[in-house]
Amino acid sequence: MSGKQAKGGGIVVPVDGPAGSGKSTLAKRIADHLQWEYLESGAIYRAVGLSVLEMGGNPENPEEAARQARNLSFECRKTPQGWRNFLNGRDATDNLREERVSEAASMVSTHPVVREALLDFQRSYGRDGGAGIDGRDIGTVVFPAARLKFFLDADVEVRIQRRFQELREKGVDFDPEKLGASLRERDHRDRHRAQAPLIQAKDAFRLDTSNLSVDDVLRIMLDRIAREYGQLIDLR
Ligand code: DC
Repeated sequence: MSGKQAKGGGIVVPVDGPAGSGKSTLAKRIADHLQWEYLESGAIYRAVGLSVLEMGGNPENPEEAARQARNLSFECRKTPQGWRNFLNGRDATDNLREERVSEAASMVSTHPVVREALLDFQRSYGRDGGAGIDGRDIGTVVFPAARLKFFLDADVEVRIQRRFQELREKGVDFDPEKLGASLRERDHRDRHRAQAPLIQAKDAFRLDTSNLSVDDVLRIMLDRIAREYGQLIDLR
């Protein structure tokens, strides 16, 4: 969409769901389409996990993780190479996707003090020009008052295959069995932790993306956004 001004200040569209549901891809596409901000909230937890590892700390220790969360310098920025995540001013996007960081992120995200420390930062998004934010608790905890929320899901086997494909495209070596087991384990941890577990907000619009293309899902989501906010934003 060319030549459109960023509009929709104050509008935040939460896109929650498990790993591999397509939530990051879709929240980015929505932000691109509407010239909004985009935040990959999982990358913040990954940044905390990576910071703990780089300090030689233990991600299972709430205080060590909370210290890193409170001092975090993080930015999700659109660059000529697409949306990239910056940690302490350096592009850490690829680093943040490492398997050891996925593990650490899953652990630090179970600590209530860590989640609390990251709330204000997440809530600073969308004030000027609207924002698409993907995560696990964006619609339930971070922006519970959002008028329109999405919850994307997909069959676990489909999600595992998508992760394989993503790594193949990047030329990263992986052990399929280990990776599948790790995704299932993280899924379980995300859904069953005491604090802000991955659950669908009661008023979220649920989409099963197992058999849908990215373009199909985008069309459905933009249609919903138009119905809800069409008078406030330019959706041509
Ligand atoms: O979406 P992701 O796989 O990059 O997320 C990394 C970890 O962070 C994952 O274990 C779930 C957790 N997370 C969370 O607890 N809350 C969020 N809003 C986003 C991610």
